[in-house]
Amino acid sequence: MRALVTGASRGIGLAITQNLLQGGAERVYASCRTPAAALHLQELQGEAGERLRIIPLDVTQAESRRAALDTLEREGGFLDVLVNNAGINPHPDEQELAAITEETMTAVLHCNVTAPLLLVKEALPLLRASEHARVLNVSSNWGALSYVVFGGWYPYCLSKAALNMMTKKLAADLRGDGITVFCAHPGWVSTDMGGSDAPVTPAEAAEGLCWLLRTGTLDMSGQFYDWKRAPHPW
Ligand SMILES: NC(=O)c1ccc[n+]([C@@H]2O[C@H](COP(=O)([O-])OP(=O)(O)OC[C@H]3O[C@@H](n4cnc5c(N)ncnc54)[C@H](OP(=O)(O)O)[C@@H]3O)[C@@H](O)[C@H]2O)c1
Repeated sequence: MRALVTGASRGIGLAITQNLLQGGAERVYASCRTPAAALHLQELQGEAGERLRIIPLDVTQAESRRAALDTLEREGGFLDVLVNNAGINPHPDEQELAAITEETMTAVLHCNVTAPLLLVKEALPLLRASEHARVLNVSSNWGALSYVVFGGWYPYCLSKAALNMMTKKLAADLRGDGITVFCAHPGWVSTDMGGSDAPVTPAEAAEGLCWLLRTGTLDMSGQFYDWKRAPHPW
């Protein structure tokens, strides 16, 4: 398996990278904005050797996406797994109705929705060159219309709802290419974003998400799962 993981410097993206390597992936492209500062990935490099490639990728920058995909095209020309994990979730005070600004909305939707959509579009030649390509959009229960139990958090929740719709649209468009597309809620995970009170470890979240990447079949495409491998309500 050849995989590209976005936002792999820390948190869930780092744990997915570790899990894929432990599961025997042929190569994982662990992408991050600043490889020189990605100390956890650098530690992994020692054990994983050439199976781990740490590459620069800011998902919001077209040139950065092009450079990353050029690397994959030069080194094999196919991609079995694309994990759209990179995401931002500003401080809650900035996400209250009274505090919303055009800048915050634009930044969150750009990173959490527009960028992963463009990355899938631009990676299509690589995904089509795989026999069983899978795309995982790391979403959230906060993007589920069935789970609106509090107000606020507008940019983040709207972005994950849009990511879920994007998953269904991509699944419909790419079924004919044999490309499976999922979205998944990783749980409330103890990362910089989730905070230290969160009950799910990054490794536990990654275990469930990577199960989808290893075993997901085309008939599961367009579905929303959780980290416990169960379907998640929309
Ligand atoms: N933690 C939770 O409880 C939880 C729950 C539901 C969903 N999620 C989702 O899970 C995903 C990962 O979350 P996390 O908890 O691991 O968050 P995190 O600890 O804050 O890590 C976010 C990752 O995204 C990267 N990133 C941010 N903007 C980027 C950009 N423009 N280009 C490339 N990478 C970028 C960060 O890179 P830098 O190191 O360069 O900043 C970092 O690697 C997100 O999509 C999040 O919405 C998390």
